[in-house]
Amino acid sequence: MAKKIILDCDPGHDDALAMTLAVANPAIDLLAVTTSAGNQTPDKTLNNAMRMLTLLQREDIPVASGNQTPLVKPLETAPEVHGETGLDGADLPDPDFAVQKMTAIELIAKTLRENDDQVTLVVTGPMTNAALFLRVYPDLARKKIDQIVFMGGAMGLGNWRPSVEFNIFVDPEAAKIVLNFGIPLVMAPLNVTHKAQIMKDEIEAVKEIKNPIGQAFYGLLSFFEQYHENPKWGFTGAPLHDPCTIAWLIDPTMFKTDKMNVDVETQGDLTRGETVCDCYRLTGKPVNTEVLLDIDRPRFIRLIMDSLKSFD
Ligand code: RIB
Ligand code: CA
Repeated sequence: MAKKIILDCDPGHDDALAMTLAVANPAIDLLAVTTSAGNQTPDKTLNNAMRMLTLLQREDIPVASGNQTPLVKPLETAPEVHGETGLDGADLPDPDFAVQKMTAIELIAKTLRENDDQVTLVVTGPMTNAALFLRVYPDLARKKIDQIVFMGGAMGLGNWRPSVEFNIFVDPEAAKIVLNFGIPLVMAPLNVTHKAQIMKDEIEAVKEIKNPIGQAFYGLLSFFEQYHENPKWGFTGAPLHDPCTIAWLIDPTMFKTDKMNVDVETQGDLTRGETVCDCYRLTGKPVNTEVLLDIDRPRFIRLIMDSLKSFD
C-alpha cells in the first residue's frame, strides 16, 4: 500500500523536485502540501507550491500556507540560491486552483483526522510549521504521525554558517521542538545530500525528456546548478537535498544509515542552529533519529529520471 505523506516545504528548486518524485511514484500518496517561509518569503513559497501542482496536474492535492516568520528569529531567505521567485529558471503556469482557507497546521490536523492510517510528515524547509503543529495538536500528532522525515542539519558541516545548515539555521527553536518531541525521526543531513549531486551532463539528459515536467526541470536544474559551481563547495554537480527524503521513502535500500540522538544548539553565537549528532552515543540521550549518511547516487539519479519520464 502507498505510503501516505504530508509534505511541508519551502519551494525552492529541490523542494519542487521532492514534490514531483512524490507525485510520480505509486509508492507515495501525497495527501497535502503545506508551505513555510525559508528559501523565499511565504507568499512566494506558497505560489511556487501551487504552480508546481498546477504543472503536475494535481490540483486535487490541498495546499495551505503556514508560518510568516520563524518562531523567534527574523526570516532569512535564500534568493542567491533559488532566485527572486524562489523557482527561477522555468516558465511555470500560474496556479489554476484555490489555496485552502485554513492555516498549514489546520490542514495537517484535518488531513490526519480524515485518514485512518498513520501518516508520515516530510519536512524539506525550516521546521516552523512542524513545531507549531506539535505544540497545538500534540495528542493528534502522537496518534497519527508515524515518523517525521526531514532534510536539514549536518554532522560537522554547514552551508549557511560553518557548522549550520540553512533549514535549521532559519528556525533553530522550531527544530529543537521537533527533535525533542518523541516522534521517530529520519534525517537527511548535508553529509548525504552533498553526495546526492546531479551532474551537468545528467541535467542535459533531462532536456531530452520531452514532456512539460521534464522541460521545466531542465530549466530549474540548470538555474539551481549555477549557484553550486563556486569552487569553494568542491562540487562536481548540484546537491539535490530535499529529494533524498522522498527517495528514502520510496527505496530506503538506496541509503546507508545510522541511528543516534540528534539535538540542536540554540544558544551559541557561532553555532546557533547546529545539529549535534551523537554518533558515538556519548550523551546517553535517547536514540531519536535514523540519519542518512551515504547514497547510491546512480540509483538516485535513475529514480529522478524515471520519475520525470513517467509524465510522458
Ligand atoms: O540546506 C538545504 C536546504 O535549504 C534545502 O531544503 C533547500 O531547499 C533549502 O531549503
Ligand atoms: Ca527546502
